[in-house]
Amino acid sequence: MKGSRARIASLGRYVPDRVVTNADMEKVVNTSDEWIRTRTGIRERRYVEPGTPTSDLCVKASREALERRGVAPSEIDLIIVATVTPDMPFPATACIVQDKLKATKAWGFDISAACSGFLYALTMGAQFVETGAHRKVLVIGADVMTSILNFEDRATCVLFGDGAGAVLLEPSEDDTGILDFSHEVDGSGGCYLSMPAGGSLRPASRETVDQRLHFIHQAGGHVFKYPVRKMAEASKHILDRNGLTSEQVDLLVAHQANIRIINAAQERLGLPDHKVVKNIDRYGNTTAATIPLALGTALDDKVLKHGSLVLLTSVGAGFTVGSMLARWSAFPWD
Ligand SMILES: CC(C)(COP(=O)(O)OP(=O)(O)OC[C@H]1O[C@@H](n2cnc3c(N)ncnc32)[C@H](O)[C@@H]1OP(=O)(O)O)[C@@H](O)C(=O)NCCC(=O)NCCS
Repeated sequence: MKGSRARIASLGRYVPDRVVTNADMEKVVNTSDEWIRTRTGIRERRYVEPGTPTSDLCVKASREALERRGVAPSEIDLIIVATVTPDMPFPATACIVQDKLKATKAWGFDISAACSGFLYALTMGAQFVETGAHRKVLVIGADVMTSILNFEDRATCVLFGDGAGAVLLEPSEDDTGILDFSHEVDGSGGCYLSMPAGGSLRPASRETVDQRLHFIHQAGGHVFKYPVRKMAEASKHILDRNGLTSEQVDLLVAHQANIRIINAAQERLGLPDHKVVKNIDRYGNTTAATIPLALGTALDDKVLKHGSLVLLTSVGAGFTVGSMLARWSAFPWD
């Protein structure tokens, strides 16, 4: 049962139509367009209509990926959903997506790794292709961050948006595909970014609701310093162990949490602007969706060619850390 390297054979995206600008945020909290732009790089983000479940975004992104590739949902072997905003604690959103897509033969599960969720899911999915166990794996990163945003906390509510991205993994037929991955966890950072209630530690109660513990809580400064250092460190580590240098990287696709974090990684790796994807200005931090949305932006900008060396990196709540190297496999329709 030996397969071959896994490659991204298709990509689909979905962001809601509703654009929320920094000027709109000024009407919600005491903030300014200037503060948000200079501290984060965000100009606008997208919001779903209240009550829209994450699974709906997953399905829209997945359908685009499948239709582009001409693959029927019934051909999918496995669905992995990375999210911190599942439709509900259980069943897994992957099960809901399986049903909505009518992916009749697929099994699936969710991954909770916050902003590193998509890279974790991609790593997991790739293993099933590489062993030869599966030939078509759907990996989805999706979050409805507005469902857990405290619109009375200006330090967090301006940062996030809603969105989804899906990729179809298939066996590679040449030397393109996922080359290597490296992940870390530093659980001591868990306290700096979390949704404190709603789990077994603090089940939902009148008190947890009154104390607004079902929303994101973040110590922004701590969550800023760690990725500034870690993204570059994790990137250098994976390049080193593959005998590659940052000059050989054609494109850096970093989790989009803050433009200053991305710029710091770019600077530490010595990469020029045209080798770094940045779309945080349009979408804000969409948590598990930023990396597939950024890959989509790179495709729009025509900066990905067959064989391009792509370095992907992320840091998220946990702290979770991901880095991955891939040789891009061009889509015939691009
Ligand atoms: C949140 C973040 C943008 C704050 O930027 P910062 O440069 O650390 O901000 P500073 O600490 O210099 O300033 C904070 C001040 O701005 C204020 N502030 C916070 N949010 C604000 C907003 N939306 N508008 C205006 N002022 C705001 C704070 O109240 C504080 O004021 P004070 O000093 O009077 O108390 C930054 O810490 C960050 O991006 N952190 C990482 C967030 C992240 O990426 N999370 C996901 C990780 S995967």
